[in-house]
Amino acid sequence: MKCAVLRERHPGETRVAASPDMVKRLKNQGVDVAIEAGAGEASGWTDDTFLQAGAIMSADAGDVLAGADVVFKVSRPVTTDEIDEVVLIPEGCVVVGLINPLVDREQYAGYAARRLTVLAMELIPRISRAQSMDALTSQASLAGYKAVLDACMFFGRAMPMMMTAAGTIAPARVLVLGAGVAGLQAIATARRLGAVVEAFDVRAAVKEEVESLGASFVEVPGADDAETRGGYAREMDDAFLARQGEVIAGALKKADICITTARIPGRPAPRLVTAAMVRHMKPGSVIVDLAVEDGGNCDGSRRDEVVDADGVTIVGFSNVAGRLAADASNFYARNLFNLITPFIDTAAGRLALDHADEVISGMCVMRDGVLVHPLLCDTKES
Ligand code: NAI
Repeated sequence: MKCAVLRERHPGETRVAASPDMVKRLKNQGVDVAIEAGAGEASGWTDDTFLQAGAIMSADAGDVLAGADVVFKVSRPVTTDEIDEVVLIPEGCVVVGLINPLVDREQYAGYAARRLTVLAMELIPRISRAQSMDALTSQASLAGYKAVLDACMFFGRAMPMMMTAAGTIAPARVLVLGAGVAGLQAIATARRLGAVVEAFDVRAAVKEEVESLGASFVEVPGADDAETRGGYAREMDDAFLARQGEVIAGALKKADICITTARIPGRPAPRLVTAAMVRHMKPGSVIVDLAVEDGGNCDGSRRDEVVDADGVTIVGFSNVAGRLAADASNFYARNLFNLITPFIDTAAGRLALDHADEVISGMCVMRDGVLVHPLLCDTKES
């Protein structure tokens, strides 16, 4: 069985869908791993490191993909002036990646022509058994952590309380909006740095988790029924958003740093921080908008820009996990390994996906070139 890993070509993508550790583990399972030269560079891994782990290296993407049973990607395969990755993928191959399946729908025509089977890492069911494969979780954890460090970088003051002979510094006040995986990690990081932390989420179930991390939960009336069966938040109605806005505006006036992480799968991110709220924040405050790739939680945040909004800094880095590329790639590669290992047919030397398996059926968007996922086949998305 052959697994192919390409150099990522999406602008700003620093991660790679393999790690030296994962190459060794796959070799032990009898899988050959072919990697495009330079693929690990931005994650700090040289070609030699991958060769020593047992990978086959080539500078030619066509060679890497030839005869592959499965292709591991971070972002979806690209078509650029330089290369069309999709046409190089062998017919009938399995492609696994963070392909933004519900939004970037134009990608499927190319896969259909190659009769590909496509697994979207974003759609792995949020069930206990799948935790070790869950790339949204592994990447969001790093993003939540890094968001706080980014905020510190732009915040002109210290985070912890400091009592010195020269006087006392009050601890910074951090407000975290959206207390899912990234938000909880942001809370934990800000607490470790000594900040006083408040957090808000529409899923009332997270209140206990927030409090167990030493933060206080901002209460908004009517926020107790917002969790869907999949564990995600649903879109809230206008009346609730107005109540939520008042509460958030009050909390923002006191905050020094705000980390926003609120997302709704397949939909634009909810707008939680308006321009008026930003205007009422203290000068020198910092907002880090982790939802900037989905349209942003904060008015005025711009993708990959640091904006000065009358003295308030709004940080809009995309691919924040990728700013910790080695850890992000390591986690992601381990997620892929955990996903694929149960389906390696060592005796036959091939990948034998079980489409009745809950994880595979939950994340399989295309099978042998045919769209099969209910969220993509049904025009009325749930
Ligand atoms: P996400 O990235 O989709 O959203 C981030 C957070 O934003 C969520 O907590 C969501 O409730 C919140 N949010 C959405 N709209 C909001 C609004 N208007 N105001 C304030 N907050 C808003 O979610 P994430 O972090 O991926 O986690 C989703 C769920 O999945 C959680 O319940 C989490 O515990 C669960 N989970 C389960 C796993 C498993 O069992 N395998 C693994 C990871 C997460």
